[in-house]
Amino acid sequence: MIQLLANTRSKEYPIYLSGGALEESGDLWRSLGRGGKVVIITDSNVAGICLSQVEDSFRAAGVEVDNIVVDAGEGAKSISQASQLYSRLFEMDTRRCDTVCALGGGVVGDLAGFVASTYMRGIGLIQIPTTLLSQVDSSIGGKVGINIEEAKNYVGSFYQPDIVITDPNLLRTLPPEQLSEGLAEVVKYTLLYGEDFFEALEVSYTRFQGLDMAFVEPVIRRCIEYKLAVVSEDERDRGRRAVLNLGHSVGHGIEAAGRYKAYSHGQAVALGLLAALRLSYEVLQLDPEYRDRLRVLLDALGLPVRLEGVDAGEVLSAMASDKKADDTSANMVLLRELGEPVINCDVSATQLEYAVNSLMAVEQGR
Ligand code: GLY
Repeated sequence: MIQLLANTRSKEYPIYLSGGALEESGDLWRSLGRGGKVVIITDSNVAGICLSQVEDSFRAAGVEVDNIVVDAGEGAKSISQASQLYSRLFEMDTRRCDTVCALGGGVVGDLAGFVASTYMRGIGLIQIPTTLLSQVDSSIGGKVGINIEEAKNYVGSFYQPDIVITDPNLLRTLPPEQLSEGLAEVVKYTLLYGEDFFEALEVSYTRFQGLDMAFVEPVIRRCIEYKLAVVSEDERDRGRRAVLNLGHSVGHGIEAAGRYKAYSHGQAVALGLLAALRLSYEVLQLDPEYRDRLRVLLDALGLPVRLEGVDAGEVLSAMASDKKADDTSANMVLLRELGEPVINCDVSATQLEYAVNSLMAVEQGR
């Protein structure tokens, strides 16, 4: 069992990573020396896959356990769902010494984490991420929250879990599109990490797609380690943590312009990464060959490399009206080299427009 340590200003906590870690959830949590009961919050998809395994593991470790199942989908990240969860926790007589266990992907992790951070001003939190995206990104670093009618992720907090239990065997339960979606974030990490990691994925991506755990587990580990290093330096997203937004400003614009239906988050990030590498060439003279290699890799991973069905102008308007984004056109994350991200880059409106427009073209040259 691999044990990594998150060392943030507000909390230190372990991240366990191993095939089969799920069955050991109860013992791993007990090893922290906490008491109280555990209320698992999961969704209707995940419940059918592994809820009973996790409950059995806690019971076998002598822990009282209960569960709440919410509807699967982004709609669950709402204030009304959070409010229902507060009431359910109250009815279950959940106290400050008790713990919420978020069992699911990014939506469940964000929602259950937000509820844990606010119920009785904060109770214990276990993250058991079940998707690739949540294993490499959203379960770590403490960003929790919900959506409001007007915008996504506008209400939330930084609330670190007590423990993260990551079982890559769960990836076998994912539909291929969801694995591809998570791979977009993995590709982001390879670009942030450096040439050797990018090349390793480029050469062996089929081993990831085939879920060869001898390759998958170390890749997930590297992504987690990268995120931990960033978050330990900048827990509250005031500086370096922005590097994790590589590809996300254009990506968020694409998601919003497609009304969150045309492109999933990972698909939009894939296109956002291509735009970011074009801008990195324009602004920081990154070798344009990387963009060509990235396009080939994303395509092989089943991710989009061309913007279709969504207007580039609408993407730019969505980016301009994203009030939360600190990295709008004048202020983006780009790469000087692979492994050398630069935050707060000045990008002109014309450069941004060109980069987004070029996503609609069939790329042949540079
Ligand atoms: N997913 C970006 C962050 O955690 O900061």
